[in-house]
Amino acid sequence: MKKDKTHIHWYPGHIAKAERKLKEQLSLVDAVIEVIDARLPLSSSYENITGLLGQKPRLILLNKSDLTDKNELKVWINVLEKKNNASVMVSDAKNSKDLNLIVKKLEELSEPRIQEIMKKGLLRRPARVMVVGMPNVGKSSIINKLTKSSKTKTGAKAGVTRQQQWVRINPKLDLLDTPGIIPMRQDNQEAAMKLTFVNSVSENAYSNEIAANALIELLSKKYPNQLKLYYQLDDDISIDSIALKRNWIVAGGNPDIERTSVYVLRDFREGKIGKFILD
Ligand code: G4P
Repeated sequence: MKKDKTHIHWYPGHIAKAERKLKEQLSLVDAVIEVIDARLPLSSSYENITGLLGQKPRLILLNKSDLTDKNELKVWINVLEKKNNASVMVSDAKNSKDLNLIVKKLEELSEPRIQEIMKKGLLRRPARVMVVGMPNVGKSSIINKLTKSSKTKTGAKAGVTRQQQWVRINPKLDLLDTPGIIPMRQDNQEAAMKLTFVNSVSENAYSNEIAANALIELLSKKYPNQLKLYYQLDDDISIDSIALKRNWIVAGGNPDIERTSVYVLRDFREGKIGKFILD
């Protein structure tokens, strides 16, 4: 049966399984870094995360900040701090050399839990933290950056589903070396569509043409000049006009919609069209 690609598809069984795994991983840690895509400060964050975390402290990292408008991002930091009652920091895991401020913040956030442990008469131990987030937001890049200076594997501890590997970042901090993958939102098609723009959704779940059209519609409302400038368009901002401008034509002289859609999505993802925040 041909899949209807006008909607982003969800598989409730997969989501339930992913949530179970995430819960197991979360039960092992004292604090969490939630990585979100700075271009989607709301849509790439997980609605149910506070339900999963309970009282555990969370540091929200607005990653891929290099692909956003920095002034607009400042406003979002305040919005997210208030909305989540969590610490919010900005990162660019592709370029930044050291993530010392993030390490310091994690130590600070975990300290109350370590103090609680010590009050029970137990010896001080390093705080345990992990990175969670939706696909492609930069979780692995951040883990790599954080562990680059310290490759000390502290050995495997029994996890619920398998052995979990920890890396000692410094005497106060152990990091789980595998990220927790947050399942995509299933309830909100608008957010789901935005997640296709940043490549957080499996390609099988949507059509390039529909995603590119939705992206162009959104960009032309919020940032029309950047689209016009990059693709050298007049007032008609559309897949057709981009295809014609680039001379991407198929048999019969019609615009090559699929090729143009793929390019528009790629140009956006690579930051070529401009720096945007789409929520
Ligand atoms: P994930 O674990 O959350 O799935 O994400 P991952 O770290 O694998 O990163 C996904 C893609 O995003 C990678 O690109 C990575 O290089 C890129 N990336 C991560 N953080 C940043 C950032 O702060 N800014 C920018 N511009 N890109 C970032 P890729 O194309 O899959 O691989 P590669 O080209 O880097 O090899």
